[in-house]
Formats: sequence, C-alpha cells, structure tokens
Amino acid sequence: MNERELTRRRLLELGLALPPVAAVFAGADAFVRNAGAAPMLAATPMILDADDPTPELTEGPYFTASSPRRRSILPAGAAGKRLTLTGRVLTTAGQPISRALIDFWQCDATGVYDNSGYRFRGHQFTDARGRYSLTTVVPGVYPGRTKHIHVKVQAPRRSVLTTQLFFPGVAGNGADGIFTRECLVSGWRAVGRRRVGRFDFVLDL
Ligand SMILES: [Fe+2]
Repeated sequence: MNERELTRRRLLELGLALPPVAAVFAGADAFVRNAGAAPMLAATPMILDADDPTPELTEGPYFTASSPRRRSILPAGAAGKRLTLTGRVLTTAGQPISRALIDFWQCDATGVYDNSGYRFRGHQFTDARGRYSLTTVVPGVYPGRTKHIHVKVQAPRRSVLTTQLFFPGVAGNGADGIFTRECLVSGWRAVGRRRVGRFDFVLDL
C-alpha cells in the first residue's frame, strides 16, 4: 500500500472515527446533563497503517492482548534514548477510566519491529485514576514514516481505539501522511538522560 493509499485509508478511518454528534449530544437529557459542565474533550482520533505487519489484534468486546502485561516494554540491554510516557485514559467529559487496557507496540531505536517475539510490545491497565505509565525508548524511524508508537486502548467491555502517538520537533512529521497534531505527545522534555512526555487518550464515551 503506497502513502497516498494510506492517507486515503486514514481519512476514511478518521471519518468513521469522528464522534457522532447525535451520540455526544443525544437529546434534551444529554444536553441538560452537559449544561454548565466543562467543554467536552475531543476524542483521540483513530489511526491505522500498514507498516507493521503484525496481524490486527482482535477488536471485539472480549479483546485479549497477546502481548505481555508490563509497564516497561524496554528489553534488557536495548539501545536507544530512554523514554517514560505517562498520561490518563479519559471520557469525552474528562472522567478518568480505570482498568482500561492499553497495548503499546513500536519499533526499536533502529526502526526495526520484532514480528516474531514481543520486543517493544506490552499491555497494561490504567489505575483507579485512569493513569498509565510506559517505559521504553524513543522509537527509531521506520522507512517511510516519522517516529511513532502504536497503541490500542480499550475501556472495559467497550470497543478498541487503535491509534498512534507522535513526538514534537521530529523532522519527519511534516512529510508523514499519517501524522496528526492531535496525537502529539505533550510536555516533551529531557530529564537527565531520559526523555519524558505525556498523552491523555480520550475515548468516545
Ligand atoms: Fe508503525
């Protein structure tokens, strides 16, 4: 699939992923409940692409990740700039979602995916305040793409959001047809020799 195809596919997916207005403001009851409340958060957009040949994980209501459960997906001795990514999983009303499943996967610092094992792959669950923490390295550049981390997020018994995270200041962002600023990591900075960043996932709930 070429880049133009990928972009077209992504736009279709984004169109499908847009929160239906009727669902967000469903009738007078929902309007009353939202009146005077904080503005609704925009749902994190869905992003899929074909650069990772791993088959799509099951996305049904009984989704079970096959990756190991761990907050660090950093293999022992792996090269690369250490990265700690933290954030929360929220509803569009800003409510934290506990026990949300988050499955991360990415290439290593040289741009290589492990498609036979679980290097740089792992899942975890948010805590009671909807928080997660990922320890990894800043991904390298997979040919034709900018730096990105893949992720699937699923609130308990709800559908799966598949998306990608990007990093500010990466030269390749502007040339990547899949890149979107909505999925940029925030608070990006160095702490000692480590990079840190934040991202809150907003599920269309
Ligand atoms: Fe990828």
